[in-house]
Amino acid sequence: MLNTADFGSDFLWGVATAATQIEGAANTYGKGLSMWDTFAKRKGKIKKSHHPQIACDFYHNYKNDILLVKTLGFKVFRFSIAWSRVLPFGKGQVNKDGIAFYHKVIDECLQHGLIPYVTLYHWDLPEALAKNGGWTAYSINADFNEFVLLCAKTYGDKVKNWIVMNEPFGFTSLGYMLGIHAPGETGLTNFFSAVQHATIAQADGGRILRSEVKNANIGTTFSCSEIIPYTHNETDLLAAKRVDCLMNRLFIEPTLGMGFPTADWDVLEKFAVSHSTWRHKERMTFDFDFIGLQNYFPLVIKFNAFIPVIQAWEVKAKSRKKPHTKMGWEINADSFYNIIKQFAAYPNVKEIIITENGAAFNDKLVNGIVNDDERIAYFILYLTAMLKAKNEGVNITGYMAWTLMDNFEWAEGYEARFGLVYNDFETQERTIKKSGYWWQEFLTK
Ligand code: BGC
Repeated sequence: MLNTADFGSDFLWGVATAATQIEGAANTYGKGLSMWDTFAKRKGKIKKSHHPQIACDFYHNYKNDILLVKTLGFKVFRFSIAWSRVLPFGKGQVNKDGIAFYHKVIDECLQHGLIPYVTLYHWDLPEALAKNGGWTAYSINADFNEFVLLCAKTYGDKVKNWIVMNEPFGFTSLGYMLGIHAPGETGLTNFFSAVQHATIAQADGGRILRSEVKNANIGTTFSCSEIIPYTHNETDLLAAKRVDCLMNRLFIEPTLGMGFPTADWDVLEKFAVSHSTWRHKERMTFDFDFIGLQNYFPLVIKFNAFIPVIQAWEVKAKSRKKPHTKMGWEINADSFYNIIKQFAAYPNVKEIIITENGAAFNDKLVNGIVNDDERIAYFILYLTAMLKAKNEGVNITGYMAWTLMDNFEWAEGYEARFGLVYNDFETQERTIKKSGYWWQEFLTK
């Protein structure tokens, strides 16, 4: 039986959310459009033409929702600030209503004794900036710094725990290489210039918070996936190594002052030559207090000569007949343990918080009950794997479940339900799932 005592009395238990996925009020109360508001209008980009206009309407329901966090027994509420709510055009004019909204959210948390963990950038670039090149534009770094400075000065007295970015690999690869997320750009040139600007922004953000916020605890988050070669043939091993460079090492290594992993993937070296800011090793480095790790799946990788540049191919969990979630993501807690160990092995990673982990299943609300035993089993497996790493000496100080309630799951729309609380998107009625009650029991008994 898992017991919170096994993790230590200081261990931080939380739930994570993101502005675009829950807030709604997308174009009201002075908020400017974000690139997700406009991306959602493009045909075929989001399943069933769903959009984040209303989402969970957290904007109007924040009091109840924060109370739910408390009711479930969590200590931490992680949420993000929508850049275009506080700076409707990305820079310049400040939206007073937007500023006031996050004050209310923060105050509500504090009143309930919850610790706010605030993410500055969870993928929702203001449309005004996206139109001008977004993360591929050189000017994005100055704009991001203006946003960070505003948030730090405005909320720094109340908020001590900050997360500069949510998964830079997520938004640069899906949004600028594959075109499946906003702003829907494709190609390696876009991708690599977004990568370098995001890496610089992340470290700049850390520096601004450090100088503006007294006693700040500053982190940033990285997606991570154990990369498992399909066979031990040399070609598969090398393909897996390239994918590891791309998915796991591309952002953390420059952040830690190691530069990009060019030695293990020559393509990165080629880009280094063509980009003038690529080698700004110092500016890309910041000594974060904690590193947020977010894990959802491992990847099994096979060599494939037909895939340009990376020459690698994913062998899906389904075809390998492995247990998987509704997203098709393999359920494999050993791989969670392995990837935690991989990141913990960097000498400058001082502290790790699991800032997201969770799963989507085919939840159904029947007679007021959501019987999501699969999700409970998932959490037990993953928490046990995390505990093993912790007991072996990895300095893991917290875990945040993804996510409080079913929400706007980006290109998947509202079909993929990851919440501990079921949301009826017609009525905005929240129903605690069986997994939510499991957490409550785990955290409060
Ligand atoms: C993102 C979340 C997302 C989750 C599940 C993470 O990469 O940070 O916003 O909902 O994955 O797809």
